[in-house]
Amino acid sequence: MRENNLLPIAGEETGIYEDPLDLMDEIDRLKVAKDATILAHYYVDGEIQDIADFAGDSLQLARDAVNVTTSTIVFAGVHFMAETAKMLNPEKTVLLPDLQAGCSLSESCPADKLAAYQAELRAKGHDIVTVAYINTSAAVKSLCDWIVTSGNAREVVENRVPKDKEILFVPDQHLGRYLMEVTGREMILWPGSCMVHEVFSLQDLIRAKKNNPDSLVISHPECPQNILDVSDFVGGTEKMRQHVAAIQEPKTFLVATEANMIHPLEAIAPQHEFIPVPGIMTDTGETCACNRCPHMARNTLQKVRDCLKRGKPEILWQPYFDKAKEVVSRSLLQ
Ligand code: 13P
Ligand code: SF4
Repeated sequence: MRENNLLPIAGEETGIYEDPLDLMDEIDRLKVAKDATILAHYYVDGEIQDIADFAGDSLQLARDAVNVTTSTIVFAGVHFMAETAKMLNPEKTVLLPDLQAGCSLSESCPADKLAAYQAELRAKGHDIVTVAYINTSAAVKSLCDWIVTSGNAREVVENRVPKDKEILFVPDQHLGRYLMEVTGREMILWPGSCMVHEVFSLQDLIRAKKNNPDSLVISHPECPQNILDVSDFVGGTEKMRQHVAAIQEPKTFLVATEANMIHPLEAIAPQHEFIPVPGIMTDTGETCACNRCPHMARNTLQKVRDCLKRGKPEILWQPYFDKAKEVVSRSLLQ
């Protein structure tokens, strides 16, 4: 049963095909009519990145969110990103095209479990600071001391986390392990992982390298160690973009991150060829094109248009946003 007995909007729930170009025109008109700005992560479909006012990585989008001048933000990304935009802009309406767009990392670390683990560690005498990857709920952020993204994690751990404290790093074990390696700091790691980066197949990556002998491997630090160990460059999405743009001579890059990242890479460095690294299905062991994030894929042009039209789904302010905002602002904006 539809809420409020509203009639379906064309395309929404009806399965009617709509021309992407018509949808883009409609979204452009609605942005003006509704006084809205669209922010899109590099992992959403290229056509959504193209109609966005800002496309970027998690760090840049959080920073862009505080510079928005319209009364409404549409966040084409996942729930924790829209929550971050809302906590930094309490007075603005923040819309997420599909409220079900979650994140396997965020889901692996519920606030009550984290609070219990922090208490357990402290009871055992550990003098901890909790450093959280931005891929966590606002409730989790409110329990933490520092928030990092793939773009600033090394800098925060090296320069801002007091040296005499133990670090509890949540929720990405792979990013945490990588940070231990590059910073030399010991960390207690939460056992979470990204469902997209976890499944890259080392065997297929090595085969792809054999088929493309001069290729270079670029990997996101959310990948497991076996993938990072054979990579020529490790960095978050924005760092990847800057890295390929700085190389003038045409190259072939094997890209170990979400497949939509090929879109901004091709846009900034068209001289190169980019090949997505395939993944393996954990149940059958077969190779698959499963390096797409099902949560990011919930963002469609129709849903962006529909949320603009209806003014929902909206991220609503929660009491713990105040504390989370303080930690996020200190970590990402200062
Ligand atoms: P970055 O945008 O920091 O590279 O993060 C990638 C990611 O997994 C976002 O969910
Ligand atoms: Fe979460 Fe991974 Fe999807 Fe990013 S790509 S939103 S980390 S599940």
